Amino acid sequence: MVQPIAIILLAVAIATGLAVGSSSIINATCAALKPLQPYDYCVGVLSADPVAAAATDVRGVAAAAVNITTVKAASTLRVISYLVDELTTCRRYYTNMVKSLVDVLIDFDAGRFKNASLEISANATGVPMDCDILLFEGNAHKDPITQENGENDLLARLASAIIDLLISKHV
Ligand SMILES: *[C@@H]1O[C@H](CO)[C@@H](O)[C@H](O)[C@H]1NC(C)=O
Ligand SMILES: *[C@@H]1O[C@H](CO)[C@@H](O)[C@H](O)[C@H]1NC(C)=O
Ligand SMILES: *[C@@H]1O[C@H](CO)[C@@H](O)[C@H](O)[C@H]1NC(C)=O
Ligand SMILES: *[C@@H]1O[C@H](CO)[C@@H](O)[C@H](O)[C@H]1NC(C)=O
Repeated sequence: MVQPIAIILLAVAIATGLAVGSSSIINATCAALKPLQPYDYCVGVLSADPVAAAATDVRGVAAAAVNITTVKAASTLRVISYLVDELTTCRRYYTNMVKSLVDVLIDFDAGRFKNASLEISANATGVPMDCDILLFEGNAHKDPITQENGENDLLARLASAIIDLLISKHV
């Protein structure tokens, strides 16, 4: 049986790898911050950073902590910027969808059911999924409006289907 031995060796390798990041100055710093700063979080986040792990005094740990925070904030800023761009495109999509639905209703009220049907399927029903796909494939890797996109998709398809039902009864 080779497998259990391999697993044990792997576990030892992982434990050794973790121990490399731990340092007594990080431990002492985090111990001094108890209980306001959770000890495990403090040790974990600092030990994962090579600069913090190599620090030899509290000043070095503090500088590394600021740097870790800077890197994280810059990363979040990038996500927000992508999201703003992607949501701006979705805003344009939905602006057109709402305009189109107003036109659908105008056609509908005037009895131009076929025009209403063409307009809703050409300019409204695809919009929610276009927005959803844009966010899914986008750089932000976040979709804060996936639920709304799903609800709009279902509603637009339902409205379109009912208009088509009406047309088939009239023709
Ligand atoms: C630091 O503390 C962790 C547990 O929080 C421990 O596993 C590790 O051995 C400690 N390292 C040093 C260098 O004291
Ligand atoms: C800050 O973090 C980045 C990325 O981990 C690293 O390349 C850089 O050397 C760090 N600078 C300092 C001053 O810790
Ligand atoms: C309605 O559709 C017909 C045929 O496609 C077209 O000729 C007409 O201009 C449309 N009317 C409106 C108000 O869009
Ligand atoms: C879809 O919208 C565009 C732009 O408003 C318009 O020109 C076009 O006639 C619409 N399509 C249908 C089928 O009504």
